[in-house]
Amino acid sequence: MGLRTYIRENFIADIKPYKPKNFRKPEQMLEIVSAWKGLELIIADIIEQFNLPRERCIEFGVEFGYSAVVFSNYFKFVTGVDTFEGDVHTANKEEHYAQTRERLAPYQNIQLVKSDYKDWIAKDEQRYNLAHVDIVHNYTETFECGLWAAQHSDCTIFHDTESFPEVRRAVKDLAKKTGQRLYNYPQHHGLGILVAKKN
Ligand SMILES: C[S@@+](CC[C@H](N)C(=O)[O-])C[C@H]1O[C@@H](n2cnc3c(N)ncnc32)[C@H](O)[C@@H]1O
Repeated sequence: MGLRTYIRENFIADIKPYKPKNFRKPEQMLEIVSAWKGLELIIADIIEQFNLPRERCIEFGVEFGYSAVVFSNYFKFVTGVDTFEGDVHTANKEEHYAQTRERLAPYQNIQLVKSDYKDWIAKDEQRYNLAHVDIVHNYTETFECGLWAAQHSDCTIFHDTESFPEVRRAVKDLAKKTGQRLYNYPQHHGLGILVAKKN
């Protein structure tokens, strides 16, 4: 192991607390159940603090669409990838693609894709300004999807860093592996923030 890799793997993964400067409610929001509620207040702040362009956002884990609609306020294009079948951690395990597509139809900048993240990342080579990872909260899936997201976006955010230790561990390991800066916002079940750009 070279000196650089040694330093990166042993010292860079400390987590800085994310401190919002402004809380702002997006204009468009869905009135539906979501554990993500509350985080909508800091998305504009994240975009500003890290100088993110507002062109393209990708989300892995849409479920009923709460966070996707939040992102649609700030980005020209939002792609939402989900099996729409739920997972071991979600209360709802009924297939709900058509229902979600109908609910999100008014938000014309959101494109929903019914797909496993594995199939999507195998073929997508585009770059994004923001990526959001909120799929099944296991280490392996969060790490694999998160690595692709970190390598294809300026900033990657991960939900549930406080409520799922496996998500937190995966995010810390991703910071070590990529050398990206890592922040954590502890409210609303925790949001890990990996930032690729130097600004
Ligand atoms: C916690 S929910 C997402 C919540 C959503 N972000 C919100 O705003 O409320 C997790 C979602 O990840 C999806 N999911 C789990 N594993 C997946 C996989 N391998 N590929 C794609 N989607 C997956 C589930 O179907 C579920 O809808």
